[in-house]
Amino acid sequence: MVVEDGTVQAATSREESLRRGLRALAHELTTAEARERERIARDLHDEIGQILTVARFMVQQLKGMPPAEQGPHIDELADMLAQASRATRSATFDLSSKVLDLGLEEALVELAGRLSRAGGAVFRVDGHLPPVEWPEPARWVLYRVVRELASNVQRHARAHLAIIRLGGDARGLTIAVTDDGIGIAADWASRGPSREGGFGLVSAHSQMQVLGGTLVVESGIGRGTCATVSLPVNGLLSP
Ligand SMILES: Nc1ncnc2c1ncn2[C@@H]1O[C@H](COP(=O)(O)OP(=O)(O)OP(=O)(O)O)[C@@H](O)[C@H]1O
Ligand SMILES: [Mg+2]
Repeated sequence: MVVEDGTVQAATSREESLRRGLRALAHELTTAEARERERIARDLHDEIGQILTVARFMVQQLKGMPPAEQGPHIDELADMLAQASRATRSATFDLSSKVLDLGLEEALVELAGRLSRAGGAVFRVDGHLPPVEWPEPARWVLYRVVRELASNVQRHARAHLAIIRLGGDARGLTIAVTDDGIGIAADWASRGPSREGGFGLVSAHSQMQVLGGTLVVESGIGRGTCATVSLPVNGLLSP
């Protein structure tokens, strides 16, 4: 019967487009993860590696110092080791699946606390996510995209305050990351990605698009930046 044929055909093309979407998402995630591994390696080298090298040098110096002069150097050493320990915790937390165990909202609160403690801008989480049970891959993508936006604020914005505003309803969620920093320079799109980076926003945008959501970035020089992620419940990975 024609109607049945039509229904079967519609179901098949829906299945085909879902398969295509999942393939595209898998591709995006694999590429994003490879870049992330590089970034983590760079952070481990630049941050933790350098701290440990200096700490080792200080211990050598301490050995030859009269005990009465050692006090301030030992305090400095303790501060450095605490910083290395924070950086290690931060890198390992992001690598572990604890993020997903916590739930998305709690993971974002944890992220904001961690970024605030690192110095620079203060990160605050406002509002709540709607009580929608997103499947694990969707939560993972959302976490990584917001983390990218927040880490951009930390690295580029020179902001005092960043707010991660959670909202939405039964139809979907929105997460807006706003900062009061310098704004995105108008020429960043024309500079394009390079070996040092510049993939973050493009990749975050594609990941949201593949999920059936959006990422909209509004920014003006000296007026800060507002990046808004939206995901409807009827996207690729529906609850
Ligand atoms: N919140 C922000 N405030 C100011 N500038 C920003 C902000 N977010 C991004 N930018 C600018 O936009 C550029 C592109 O950001 P993007 O995340 O794509 O790349 P990146 O952070 O430089 O590198 P990667 O994310 O690959 O490590 C940044 O280099 C920076 O100049
Ligand atoms: Mg970035």
